[in-house]
Amino acid sequence: MESIVVKGGRKLSGEVIIDGAKNSALPLIAATLLAENGSCCLDNVPDLRDINTIIRLLEGMGAVVQRQGRRLEIKTTAVDNCQAPYELVKTMRASILVLGPLLARFGQARVSLPGGCAIGARPVNLHIKGLEMMGAKISVEHGYIIGQAECLTGADITFDVTTVTGTENLIMAAVLADGVTTLRNAAREPEIVDLAAFLRKMGAQIEGEGTHTVTITGVEKLSAAEYQVMPDRIEAGTFMVAAGISGGDVVIKNAPLAAMGSVVTKLQEIGLKIEPLTTYKEDDLLTGVAVRVSRGAEGLRGLDIKTMPYPGFPTDMQAQAMVLLALADGTSVISETVFENRFMHVFELQRMGVDIEVEGRTAIVRGVAMLSGAPVMASDLRASAGLVLAGLAAEGETVMSRVYHLDRGYAGFEKKLRSLGADIRRVEEN
Ligand code: UD1
Repeated sequence: MESIVVKGGRKLSGEVIIDGAKNSALPLIAATLLAENGSCCLDNVPDLRDINTIIRLLEGMGAVVQRQGRRLEIKTTAVDNCQAPYELVKTMRASILVLGPLLARFGQARVSLPGGCAIGARPVNLHIKGLEMMGAKISVEHGYIIGQAECLTGADITFDVTTVTGTENLIMAAVLADGVTTLRNAAREPEIVDLAAFLRKMGAQIEGEGTHTVTITGVEKLSAAEYQVMPDRIEAGTFMVAAGISGGDVVIKNAPLAAMGSVVTKLQEIGLKIEPLTTYKEDDLLTGVAVRVSRGAEGLRGLDIKTMPYPGFPTDMQAQAMVLLALADGTSVISETVFENRFMHVFELQRMGVDIEVEGRTAIVRGVAMLSGAPVMASDLRASAGLVLAGLAAEGETVMSRVYHLDRGYAGFEKKLRSLGADIRRVEEN
C-alpha cells in the first residue's frame, strides 16, 4: 500500500497540462461497443485506474484494446461475452455504462449491480426503468442485472432525478433502437456533449445534448470512428485550487474553461485571480485553453456553495472548494444536494485543524489562519484530492493513506504538483 507525503508551505509556480476527462473517457470507451465494424481510436485518454478497469471489462467481453500513451485503439467486432463481472464492477460504479450499449447491439447483457458506495446509496433504478421503457426485459438475479431485448424501441422517458451516467446509458441504448427516443430532464453535463459528438461521428442521430431534452433517432448500425476526449474540468478546477491555496502563480494549460463557469465564478468570488491567456468561445465546452491562476491581493473570503447538477457547482469539486474555504476569512456554508454522504473528508480535515461542523447535508466552515499537517486517510476520489490540497497549505507533514482513491481519477497528480514546486512524494507504507 502506498501513501502520499506532503510538506506544506511551498508556493506553486510554473505550468501544468490538464489530461483528458475521466468522466468523458469512460462513456466513450463503453460506446465503442456499439461499433459493428472497424477499430475506434480515442486520443487524450488519461492514464487512470478507472480507465484500466473499463478496458479490462471490454477485454473480458472479447474486445481487442491497444494502448499507446494517451491513444487507445479498440476493436469490438469480435465481442461475444456480454458480461460485466462483480470483481470489476465493485471497483468502479461507472461500469454500469456498458449496459445500454450491450443491450443495443447484442440484445443481451449480464452486468453486476454496483455495490454500496462510500458517497451514498447511488442506485441505478433510473437506468433500468428507462431501458424497460424501451422494451428490454430486465431482472436482477444473484446480484446481477440480466437484460434481454429482441429489439429496443424508441420511447418518451422522463428522468425523476437528473442522472449523468443514466442519461449516457440511455443515449447509447437509443442510438440503435427502432424509432425516436426522447429523454426529458436529462443531465446537461459537458461530458454528455462529448459522448454525443463521438456517437454522431459513428453515425448516430442525436439532437439536444447539453439541454434537458435529448432526442435520438435510431439508426441501423454504427461504425468505428476517431475521437479526442475533452479535457478534465475537475482536474483543472483542482489545480486552480492548488494554485490559490498555496499562494502561488500557475499557468494551467488545456483547461475547458467554457465548461467551468460555476467553478470559475465561485473561485473568483473566494479571491482567486483567474485570467484566460487564450481566447475561447463560451459555447465551446470541449476545447481546452491556457489560464493563469493566482491568489488575489485581498486574500480569501468565505462564501456559500451549493452543489448542483451542471451547470451548477459540481459535487466533484466540493471537497477541494471546502479546503480553500477552510483558510478563508469568515464563515462559509456548503450544501451538498447531489449525494447524501459526501462529507467523509470532513473528519480527516478536522484532524488538520479545519473548523467544520456538519448538519445533515450542510457543512459550516469557519476560516482559520493555518492548517497543521497530520496523518489522514482518503475515503473517496475527490476527498483524496481535497486532503492533498490541505497538505499543500498545512504547516508540517501530511501523510495520506489509501492513495488508490486518488489514482482512480488523477493522472500523475503528485508528479504534476512536484513539477510546480510542491514538496510531495509517494512512499510505500510499512
Ligand atoms: C456521475 C459522475 C460523478 C459525479 C456525478 C454527479 C461519471 C462516471 N461519474 O456519477 O463523478 O459525481 O455524476 O455529478 O460520470 N440516482 C438515482 N437513480 C439512478 C441514478 C442516480 O436515484 O438510477 C441519483 C444518485 O443517487 C444521485 C443523483 O441521482 O443522488 C445523481 O447521480 P448520477 O448523476 O447518476 O451520478 P453518476 O452518474 O453515478
